Parts: sequence; structure tokens; C-alpha cells
Amino acid sequence: MKVIKVKNYEEMSEEALKVVLEVVKGNEGSVLGLATGSTPLGLYAKMAQDHKENGTSYAECRAVNLDEYVGLDASSDQSYVYFMRENLFKHIDIKLENTHIPNGKAPDKNAECARYNALLGELRQDIQVLGIGSNGHIAFNEPGTAFDSVTHIVDLAESTIKDNSRLFNSIDEVPRQAFTMGLSNIMNAKKILILANGEGKANAIRELVLGEIREEVPASILRNHPDCILICDESAGKYI
Ligand code: F6R
Repeated sequence: MKVIKVKNYEEMSEEALKVVLEVVKGNEGSVLGLATGSTPLGLYAKMAQDHKENGTSYAECRAVNLDEYVGLDASSDQSYVYFMRENLFKHIDIKLENTHIPNGKAPDKNAECARYNALLGELRQDIQVLGIGSNGHIAFNEPGTAFDSVTHIVDLAESTIKDNSRLFNSIDEVPRQAFTMGLSNIMNAKKILILANGEGKANAIRELVLGEIREEVPASILRNHPDCILICDESAGKYI
């Protein structure tokens, strides 16, 4: 794993943009694996700005997202499909029909997992963007998830519900389940870009970089990936 330590969130997002642009410019039909959460917002803003100012086109790109809450769809402003439209898709020229996120309102959850997993088989990510949870989760793969997991439904860990409650009116509104890519779907990406900022991620980054590779720290599997880049700011990287 290549580690790039930068000063702050702005520099992290700037460096991340360079990595994404290198992929997109080398292949205009790239498959972009995308994440939600606070971490990639700076990157997405920079992609939007670069698209506007420099004309980088995503018209031929496809996108696959990591996860979605069970029970939410685009009509909910807490859903990840809404998040992606508002924070990235509507600011670049990607075609919405080429963007994919598990359907949080799917009537048959197991069938939805199978559908999404098959889709990931067809759309191998040229790059997968990731954030990391304070407990070392990636996507919604919580500690203890099998390294060979595929798309599945998870019961969210209490720590994740608490972390994510800042985005809801109250902690009771945070869904208790989510659809998520499994760890093997993430590892299947040709390139992985994991971003981390802030002190709250410092322990997770220490475990990712220096700890043992083990299922209790889902992100640690990334050390086995042949082309993984970690970009973290000083606070998140303070132990490494
Ligand atoms: C988001 C996702 C999560 C987040 C992680 C960090 O699609 O799958 O794993 O990347 O929870 O969240 P933030 O960036 O909000 O700190």
C-alpha cells in the first residue's frame, strides 16, 4: 500500500483528484467505484470544479456505489442515491442511467444483493474510492466481516449508527441495516484509493497501516491489494 500523508483535508482532496483524473483520462469509459460520507465530499467538489473548468468528461463512465441504507430511496434526503446526485452526479456529465447504487427499497433484499453482485461482476471498478469508519470498516463491512464476503445485508454496528447519526435528525432515524458491497467486491477493483481525515480516524489508520491483517479490522485487507493508495491528513495519520 502506498501511503501519502498531507497537511489537511484540502490537500487530501487535491491529491485524490489527481489519482482519479489519471484513471479517467487514461480510459474515458472507466468504471468508478464511489463512496458516500463526509470524507470524499472535497474530492467530489474538485471533480465538479475540474469538469466545469477543464472539461473532463464522464459521459462514457459508469459508476457503482459501495452501499445504501435498507428502507431509503431517492425520495429520502438521507439516502445515498440522493447524496450522490446532489454532491457529484448533477455537477458532472455522467449519465444517471450509468450510475448504480443498491436499491434500498427493494422488496426482496436477497434478490437485490444477488442483482447488485452480478452487476459488479460485469462492472469491475477501474478505481474504487473509499472512506474508513472509526472502527476500521470499509463500505458497511463491519469488524468481523469475512474477507471473502460479497454483496450482503448488514446489521450496522452501534458505533456506526452513532457516527452516522450526525446526518439524521435523531439517532432513532438512522436505519439499522444496509446493503453493502462485500470485501471481495472491493478487492476486485483494479485500483483502490482510501481517504482519511481527522483525529477520529487516527486509530483506524494505525490499524490499517501497522496492525495485523485480520477480519476484526476490515480495512486491513487492503494491504493485500496490489495497487492501493492511502491519502490521509496529519490528524488521521498521526500514529503512522
Ligand atoms: C460510505 C461508506 C462508509 C464511509 C465511512 C466513513 O459509502 O461506505 O464506509 O466511507 O463510514 O464515513 P465518513 O467519510 O462520513 O467519515
